[in-house]
Amino acid sequence: MKIAVLPGDGIGPEIVAQAVKVLEALKLPLEMETAPVGGAAYDVAGHPLPPATLDLAKAADAILFGAVGDWKYDTLARELRPEQAILGLRKHLSLFANFRPAICYKELTAASSLKPEIVGGLDILIVRELNGDIYFGSPKGIRNAPDGLFTGAREGFDTMRYSEPEIERIAHVAFAAARKRNRKVCSVDKSNVLETSQLWREVMTRIANEYSDVELSHMYVDNAAMQLVRAPKSFDVIVTGNLFGDILSDEAAMLTGSIGMLPSASLDKNNKGLYEPSHGSAPDIAGKNIANPLATILSAAMMLRFSLNLANEAERIEKAVQTVLAQGYRTADIDTAGMKRVSTSKMGDAVVAALR
Ligand code: IPM
Ligand code: MG
Repeated sequence: MKIAVLPGDGIGPEIVAQAVKVLEALKLPLEMETAPVGGAAYDVAGHPLPPATLDLAKAADAILFGAVGDWKYDTLARELRPEQAILGLRKHLSLFANFRPAICYKELTAASSLKPEIVGGLDILIVRELNGDIYFGSPKGIRNAPDGLFTGAREGFDTMRYSEPEIERIAHVAFAAARKRNRKVCSVDKSNVLETSQLWREVMTRIANEYSDVELSHMYVDNAAMQLVRAPKSFDVIVTGNLFGDILSDEAAMLTGSIGMLPSASLDKNNKGLYEPSHGSAPDIAGKNIANPLATILSAAMMLRFSLNLANEAERIEKAVQTVLAQGYRTADIDTAGMKRVSTSKMGDAVVAALR
């Protein structure tokens, strides 16, 4: 089985190294090949997603991804910015279904900014559509406004759009996921204002008929943002579009104590996937060996489960992560009084030790 390892920028290389270490400790027949992506690829090849990296990703059975982005690339043209690498991979490989579980481990309840009774035992799943919406909709650009209040002035514009088949396929993914959990799907939209969302809601409601054992509810995105901090445990599966999912998944991450704990999977229709921590490249702490590698290690576990059919090995990694938390090991982002503060690499070592 071939894994494309794309560490990327900022803390990407440090955290991916820990996940690779954990995978190697499992002694599976995995062939791992590394390639540059994001700003790191721009530096060596002049493009954030060079053809060689894209080809490797296409040929692999799964992709382990770190993070992309650094302020030093902020002045580049949009198509050369590091973010285009992850957007390009999602699009070129048709990775339309993004799973972002938010689990609050009991050991980390105190690290959350919310009260323990609100987040204790939290286990929700955000299913985010990843190939459509305002992220990819055309037309987009900056032009002189053809009409409106400020005709002739420069204006930026993007297009939010979703086709019925795009909504249908993500609906099926969400309902199927709910069947393996608590059988509740909350579809988040802004149908009181947006046409795109009206179609979204209509299609979700229709597809729900095929899953009579799953309960569907609808919520406007502003209310969902509020309910996520008011009563997050009232959710099971949240399904939403690309933009709303981007925002709500960061919010959900914070409920768990740290965004440094959240893995993610982005799958195509055959369960080939890209696995990455939900957090970004954190250039402010890059190279300091202090970042939390657990989200990346847990992403590697998701990779074994979803793309490589190795559920037992996935569970071994997840159990090892729980063990190190129970042993009191903490990187800076999840540290609380009385715990053992460790570096990125020491945390990786601790997980490897806990596997045994
Ligand atoms: C994410 C990130 C990306 C997104 C960025 C880096 C393009 O925020 O994966 O959530 O907006 O999708
Ligand atoms: Mg995001």
